[in-house]
Amino acid sequence: MRFYLISAIVTLIILITVISFRQDVWQTYALPYDEEQVGLNDQITINFSHVVAENTPKGLAADKFAQLVKEKSNGKINVQIYPNGILYNDENELAALKNGDIQMIAPTISKMTEALPSWQVLDLPFIFEREDQIYAALHGELSKTLLAELSSINVHGLSFWNNGFKQIASKNELIQTVEQFQYLTVRIMTSDLLSQQFNLLNAEPISTTFNDLYKKIQNNEILAQENTLSNLYSKGFYKMQPQITLSNHGLLAYSVLMNEDFWQSLDKSSQKIITQSLKEMDRWQHEQAIALNEQNLQQLQADPNVTLYTLSKQQREEWRVALQPIYQSYNNIGNPQFLAQLYQDIKN
Ligand code: SIN
Repeated sequence: MRFYLISAIVTLIILITVISFRQDVWQTYALPYDEEQVGLNDQITINFSHVVAENTPKGLAADKFAQLVKEKSNGKINVQIYPNGILYNDENELAALKNGDIQMIAPTISKMTEALPSWQVLDLPFIFEREDQIYAALHGELSKTLLAELSSINVHGLSFWNNGFKQIASKNELIQTVEQFQYLTVRIMTSDLLSQQFNLLNAEPISTTFNDLYKKIQNNEILAQENTLSNLYSKGFYKMQPQITLSNHGLLAYSVLMNEDFWQSLDKSSQKIITQSLKEMDRWQHEQAIALNEQNLQQLQADPNVTLYTLSKQQREEWRVALQPIYQSYNNIGNPQFLAQLYQDIKN
C-alpha cells in the first residue's frame, strides 16, 4: 500500500515537472522592445482639473495647452485633463492644488478673491467696454502684478485666460431694469464683490458651486444667474433660464495655476516649455473665447424657446449708476493702485 502511494506521488511530481517545462512556466524572457515605453521614467504628468465642459473657452484652452507641451517636449510632458468637475469642484480645487493632490487648475478670478481680495479689481462691473480691453487687462502690466501676488498663498501663477462678458439669464422674467432685480435669487460665484454687486441691486445673491448649479435651478432655489453665453449654453442652463439679457456687465476670466512645489521640481527646460506654450496661445485663446461665445449666441438665437435682449444705452447707464458704490468698496478692501493700473492698461 505504502509502495503504491509513494509511486503515485513520484509519478505526479514527474508529470507536473514535464508539463511545466513544456509550457515554459519556469522560463524567463526579456520583454519585447516597446518604443512607447522608452523614457517612461522621465515622463512628467501634469494632472489638470477644471469644472467646465470640454467645448468651452477653458476646455479648449486646456486641450491646446496639453497638445503644445506634448509637441514641444517630444512627448515627455503629458497633461492629463479632468473636465466637468469630475475630480474637484470650484470650492475644493484650490485646496487640492495647494496640497499637491493635483498639479494644475484654472479657477475663475472671482473664485480666487477670497484668498486674494485685491483680485476683485477684474470683477468690477462695467469696467470693460470692448474685447481688446479684456486682452489688455489679462496680458498687460496689472496681470503680472496679480500673478506675482500668488506667491503669498504659495501657488505658482502662470497665465490668465479669457472666457468673455457675463450676461444675465433668468427663468421667468427678462431682466431689463434695475428694479426687476428686487428679491430675485441670483446665483453668484463665491466672491464678496459679486455678492455686493447684487445687494446693490436689491437682489438675493446665492453663492453656489458650478457643479451644484443645475440642481439648484431645477429645484427653483435660484431664478437667475450671471454667466457667459458659452457656460450658459454648454451646460444647458439656458433651457431652464431662457430669458437672456445681453448686458456685458462683467468679465469672466481664469487664472492658470500650478502647485508651487511641483513647479519647482521641474527642470528648467520643462518650465520653459510650459511658459512658452502658454505665451504662444495667449492670442489664440482670446480669439477662441470670442468665437465660441459668438457661435453659442447664434445657436441661442436659433432656439425658439430662448429670448435674447440687448440692454439699451439708457438701461445700461442705470445699471452702471446703481453699481457705482462698489468702486469705493473695492478701493477700501482691495488695492486702489491696481484699479489705477487697470485703467492705464485698457485706456487705448
Ligand atoms: C467656469 O467657467 O469655470 C465656471 C464659472 C462659474 O462658476 O459660473
